[in-house]
Amino acid sequence: MDRRPVRPFRSREWFAAPHRSDMAALYLERFMNHGLTPEELQAGKPIIGIAQSGSDLSPCNRIHVDLAARVRDGIIAAGGIPIEFPTLPIFENCRRPSAALDRNLAAMTLTETLYGYPLDAVVLTTGCDKTTPAGIMAAITVNIPAIVLSGGPMLDGWHEGELVGSGTVIWRSRRKLAAGEIDEAEFLRRATDSAPSPGHCNTMGTASTMNAVAEAIGLSLPGCAAIPAPYRERGQMAYRTGQRIVDMAYEDLRPLDILTRGSFLNAIRTCTAIGGSSNAQPHINAMAAHAGIPITAADWMEHGYDLPLLADVQPAGRFLGERFHRAGGVPAILCELAGAGKLDEGCLTVTGKSIGENIAGREATDREVIRPFDQPLKETAGFLVLSGNLFDFAIMKTSVISPEFRARYLSEPGRENLYEARAVVFDGSDDYHDRINDPALEIDERTILVIRGSGPLGWPGSAEVVNMQPPDALIQRGVLTLPTMGDGRQSGTSDSPSILNVSPESAAGGGLAWLRDGDIIHIDLNTGRCDAQVDEAEIARRRAEAPPPAVPASNSPWEELYREKVGQLADGGVLDFALKYRGIAERTPRH
Ligand code: FES
Ligand code: MG
Repeated sequence: MDRRPVRPFRSREWFAAPHRSDMAALYLERFMNHGLTPEELQAGKPIIGIAQSGSDLSPCNRIHVDLAARVRDGIIAAGGIPIEFPTLPIFENCRRPSAALDRNLAAMTLTETLYGYPLDAVVLTTGCDKTTPAGIMAAITVNIPAIVLSGGPMLDGWHEGELVGSGTVIWRSRRKLAAGEIDEAEFLRRATDSAPSPGHCNTMGTASTMNAVAEAIGLSLPGCAAIPAPYRERGQMAYRTGQRIVDMAYEDLRPLDILTRGSFLNAIRTCTAIGGSSNAQPHINAMAAHAGIPITAADWMEHGYDLPLLADVQPAGRFLGERFHRAGGVPAILCELAGAGKLDEGCLTVTGKSIGENIAGREATDREVIRPFDQPLKETAGFLVLSGNLFDFAIMKTSVISPEFRARYLSEPGRENLYEARAVVFDGSDDYHDRINDPALEIDERTILVIRGSGPLGWPGSAEVVNMQPPDALIQRGVLTLPTMGDGRQSGTSDSPSILNVSPESAAGGGLAWLRDGDIIHIDLNTGRCDAQVDEAEIARRRAEAPPPAVPASNSPWEELYREKVGQLADGGVLDFALKYRGIAERTPRH
């Protein structure tokens, strides 16, 4: 059958360059030197990129090194030519000073690759936290047909008969270590037991959240996000993804045809229902900004905050990735939202069908893990957006407010959801680690731990440091969590209800710069207000006396460029100048 694309493939501009057979020969000869034939390259078949995010340096995504073989099989079976190429490695836990520096860089470098080479469509291989938004941001910017293939989470971790989840076990065991209940060797055993196989974090951390988001916005095949990396279904999903991207190339179905305000609002809703990572906020804002769709603080409140928590998955719940997948994964979550009228079912997806059509009949099969909408784990479990005299924007992940935290801070009769705490302020995480156990700080149950200098400019990149642990002495007395606040982020695997992503950050002149030890901070979760009890005149005096700290010196060229161009977490921490480039595949690069 003679199959014609909706519009000519852009790779023809290389391999069948009109009036430039000299250039076409140059392009062809080197692609052929490993065995591709001119028949393949000049047959007018779509050239499908496989953006390979896995490597020895990206262990969370390393499964893709093998999985790509199945993607290739799918592409070839459907009549495309696969071309695999590497993306910038990103490994969340290991990249210093912060993997957050790399999201925009990975997006920029992938943008250049997709734009400057003869690629008609791309499979984005995703997994570890930033690899998903980075790939999607690039695909949006270039706007060639694109599909997301998650590598999938690791198998569930077990330690002495108990589920131990990625990251979450670290935060919990760190407290046990401080309390003297376990030693360093046991700490390491718990950590390693949480990572029993290839794959990304098996908790509902940022990796699983962002892959769920990719599915909710319609950029991956239904059910893709949650299949554990080693399962046979993962290889089958890779094959089908390879097949489908070829059809998408023929149909000319592009990210900007798929992504709408409705799809991003669906992502926000999904985030609440799964108890998703607080890092989803900057990533969703960033992807939407690249698509030219503003997502505001009001959107997070209006569409996300009031929804219930449905997935009983760590850190907000009990289970891990395998159980979540077997219970039905993201399609089952979307079914619950749709049933309650909380899903924009008409949004288009990579299948060419609407999200509502995709999820028909995909209800949850295990109600212990994925709750019915009207019998949730928690009501009103989204991110609460806060503002006040210290900052214009911050979020709190309310799905991880524990009964203990609620009882201690939020349950005073007549003052529900209100608390006041005395600030102890740290300048970055070294300062925190150096001083947290200093008795002179007099940290007690009425203290809020504040960290500054940890935002996009200050760190740089913004660090996952806000979920600060109380001093050992307090933990030994049974106080496992103190209120915390900061201009950095925290791991999506953390169970701490911190006030996060404070924007503007102290290094950009935000209010945390003038905050001092002993200031009383008043927090009202009913209204979303957070204010230091410091009057205007005093704030002005402090600002004059101690101007905001200068941005620290950069240690690499990219750090310098990043600091020059990056915005605040409230807006996704994007490179503002990059947002005006959208749909650049329309302009063929010159020879
Ligand atoms: Fe890579 Fe969690 S550290 S997925
Ligand atoms: Mg993280």
